[in-house]
Amino acid sequence: MRFGSLLVAASTAVLVVAAPSTEKKKRVSKFRWFGVNESGAEFGNTAIPGELGKDYTWPVESSIDTLVAQGINIFRIPILMERIIPTSMTGPMNATYEDGLISIVNYITNTKGAYAIVDPHNFGRYYGNIITDDAGFTTFWATLAGVFANNNKVIFDCNNEPHDMGDISVVTGLMQACINGVRAAGATSQYIFVEGTSYSGAWTWISAGNGALSGLTDPQNKIVYEMHQYLDSDGSGTSADCVNSTIGSSRIEAATAWLKSEGKLGILGEFAGGSNSVCESAVTDMLTYMGENTDVWLGALWWGGGPWWGDYIYSMEPPSGVAYVNVLPLMLPLI
Ligand SMILES: *[C@@H]1O[C@H](CO)[C@@H](O)[C@H](O)[C@H]1NC(C)=O
Ligand SMILES: *[C@@H]1O[C@H](CO)[C@@H](O)[C@H](O)[C@H]1NC(C)=O
Ligand SMILES: *[C@@H]1O[C@H](CO)[C@@H](O)[C@H](O)[C@H]1NC(C)=O
Repeated sequence: MRFGSLLVAASTAVLVVAAPSTEKKKRVSKFRWFGVNESGAEFGNTAIPGELGKDYTWPVESSIDTLVAQGINIFRIPILMERIIPTSMTGPMNATYEDGLISIVNYITNTKGAYAIVDPHNFGRYYGNIITDDAGFTTFWATLAGVFANNNKVIFDCNNEPHDMGDISVVTGLMQACINGVRAAGATSQYIFVEGTSYSGAWTWISAGNGALSGLTDPQNKIVYEMHQYLDSDGSGTSADCVNSTIGSSRIEAATAWLKSEGKLGILGEFAGGSNSVCESAVTDMLTYMGENTDVWLGALWWGGGPWWGDYIYSMEPPSGVAYVNVLPLMLPLI
């Protein structure tokens, strides 16, 4: 999601991953994952490092409990690169922020048995500058992934929504650098989610040139292509109105064909629509379409949850977020 405002900057994403057969939570059966972005730690992105509880916060354990009880099995945890590794990409971690991240990731994975996506919510930028230092980015990821090297329920999301990156080779370079860093850290069992330019939009995946990402390589062969898709007129996820009741399936059709033709796997890492009848139809139509194409679509994550959303149009935060109350019950039968 684009950061149109401070609030939006704090956007939350919840990701749910369908539980493997050996796990307790079996609600997600069609998809491997279904979940929610859990915003908070990326809020206040103009305050670096920022203060816990004032500028940023962490997802709330009781909200995780509630969502897991509903059958959600994956959560995306947006963080800021400048908060976790502040001095330079090759520098050390900030212990305060690192401890907060470890705590919520361990709660989700070890206590609840769900998956946690570590998502540097940086739009392909570090301190506002497009990241072109691939070696530095590899080191960044080696440091961060090293913390979770032995936790196979952690998923590494290379970078949220790169955009206006110049040549597409800048994006392919970044994503490959991330994969290399994760594996160099000894984190060999985990999935890695890669994103494309143009905010990783599914509807612009091909036109933006993200087809070039098919050349990424991973010795563990666990790359998943993360795309985002909102259903409002400009696809930005800033309106409660959806174009029409089939706009979701229309917008992800070409990306679905690309995943199939390239033999790749995808996840819709962010999607949302307002709490109204057109959007509710559009959301269920899109999930139904994805459910007919589970050979390539592994799941989806609603945007978003987290404690600081207030009356946000897409809030999935229990107990009163508008999407939690009105939209989640419509989605659960489809996942
Ligand atoms: C580490 O980050 C915390 C906020 O998460 C901040 O209060 C603190 O000043 C930072 N420490 C250093 C050494 O930068
Ligand atoms: C919804 O809008 C899309 C894009 O304009 C269009 O292709 C599709 O036919 C529309 N669907 C309906 C049901 O009107
Ligand atoms: C998850 O949260 C991040 C950061 O707040 C956001 O950029 C992303 O779009 C969200 N993803 C989903 C699926 O909501």
